[in-house]
Amino acid sequence: MSLKEAFAPYFKMGVAVAIPDITVSQNMDLIRREFNSMTCENNMKPMYILDKKENLENPEAHDLEPAVTFEICRPFLDFAKENKIPMRGHTLGWHNQTPKWFFHEGYSEEKPLAGRETMIARLQNYIKAVFAFINSEYPDLIYAWDVFNEIVEDNAFRKSLWTETIGEDFFFFAFEAARKYSTPGTQLFYNDYDTSIDWKRDFIYEKVLLPLKEKGLVDGMGMQSHLTMDKPDFSDYKFALEKFGSTGLIIHMTELDIHNNDNSEASMKALADRYSELFKIILEAKKTGTANVECVTFWNLLDEESWLSGFRKETSYPLLFHKNCEAKEAYYSVLKTVE
Ligand code: GLA
Repeated sequence: MSLKEAFAPYFKMGVAVAIPDITVSQNMDLIRREFNSMTCENNMKPMYILDKKENLENPEAHDLEPAVTFEICRPFLDFAKENKIPMRGHTLGWHNQTPKWFFHEGYSEEKPLAGRETMIARLQNYIKAVFAFINSEYPDLIYAWDVFNEIVEDNAFRKSLWTETIGEDFFFFAFEAARKYSTPGTQLFYNDYDTSIDWKRDFIYEKVLLPLKEKGLVDGMGMQSHLTMDKPDFSDYKFALEKFGSTGLIIHMTELDIHNNDNSEASMKALADRYSELFKIILEAKKTGTANVECVTFWNLLDEESWLSGFRKETSYPLLFHKNCEAKEAYYSVLKTVE
């Protein structure tokens, strides 16, 4: 039985994909067989959707309505559509992978930062343009969107060009626009990493989720879940999952991987055990109703593609598949948790 079949009674199983995953036939087959949710690893982020050439060449025309292009993400949308794989959209807003020029008057870094009203308009019209495209060309394909990513740092709202230009309420404008322009039923998420750390968990709960929920602007919490072999402690993970779950919001694990730089048999067995423990916690929360988990997405398909090797500057073996799409012991241990 595949991951998506085994977990179907509980939640979707997803994967973040890059170009090889939608062009190499064995990767494509593996995705079709195992997963029923798909996220673009990079290609739907603002730096790829904002049309740099057009905005920079005609800044006056696009001052409040940024020009957008979907050439880079279209192959991913087509693959998902052809194979009937529902998608998570990632991400409408972020401080990272959003070009600096976007925040300046005249889209020019030589000029001062744009003012609050201009940036609110740019943010909302960007989101409007993304949904106009998706709603007309790929209706019903994207069931959930990360509306904003990673806005919390050091027990505060992260200082970024968003807070500098708009102020700390910037994310409300994004969620408002996402709600307004998405089709009814589209799930809107806040997404962040290290969400088991107590101050971060509590800040997100109090300052992000509850205020957004009160306005009816958020449907889900994305726990990215970039884990290591010893962090977080799973009791903290479970506590955070239940705390986010207590809001009544949908929970997605949006970017799951477990960094491990040792691919010896013993270490890959330890990885399998850690995955197994994690899935038992997630399944338990779902079954008892303490957290309404609806999707768990792995961040990349194969060990060889993992972003972690670059990020950690050491080869990482963090996932369920490797080499020529072979399943690792962790794959079987995850499957076993639903038996
Ligand atoms: C964050 C982002 C992802 C991705 C990972 C690293 O978690 O949300 O889009 O960039 O970092 O690959």
